[in-house]
Amino acid sequence: MTTELVNIQPLYQPVKMSGEMAVFSPEVEAEIDWHLAKYPSKRSAILPIMFIVQRERGYLDGPGVSYLANRLSLRITDIWEVATFYSMLHTKPIGQYHIQVCKTLSCKLLGADKITEQCSQKLGIKPGETTADGKFSLSLVECLGSCGTAPMFQVNFDFHENLTTEKVDQILDSLP
Ligand code: FES
Repeated sequence: MTTELVNIQPLYQPVKMSGEMAVFSPEVEAEIDWHLAKYPSKRSAILPIMFIVQRERGYLDGPGVSYLANRLSLRITDIWEVATFYSMLHTKPIGQYHIQVCKTLSCKLLGADKITEQCSQKLGIKPGETTADGKFSLSLVECLGSCGTAPMFQVNFDFHENLTTEKVDQILDSLP
């Protein structure tokens, strides 16, 4: 789906991270219960529940991982194995706005380097970094499946395609 400048929501609201195991609101617990009830084995619900914990904690931190292990009756190492496999899961703090520039062939040929450079300059960070205020992270990623509309990047869950320098300026300036 393509969306342009439409109300991009932050990935999470900053929360205080403390304690050995994360504690969530009854609403979040109910959401997690709903996912657990869908599967005969708790383990099968690992990904949706990881995404909920990440959404609530900002990233999969120690207390969040302890919570997951407890809730899913798995070992801590089982959780880390999954957490470090998928690029959508973060084990380090990530900005509220995660800008993922596609660096694969179509995008590369049509100007991905220029888009990356522009993002870097505008945000004052290199790919792989997060701004000091924790607001933006910039990453280079492999093909996001939007090659026909290259160059493109993803901001949180939204694709932005056929990027030009003007469009990049507009999109980044629109992020609250
Ligand atoms: S090459 Fe960029 S989306 Fe496929």
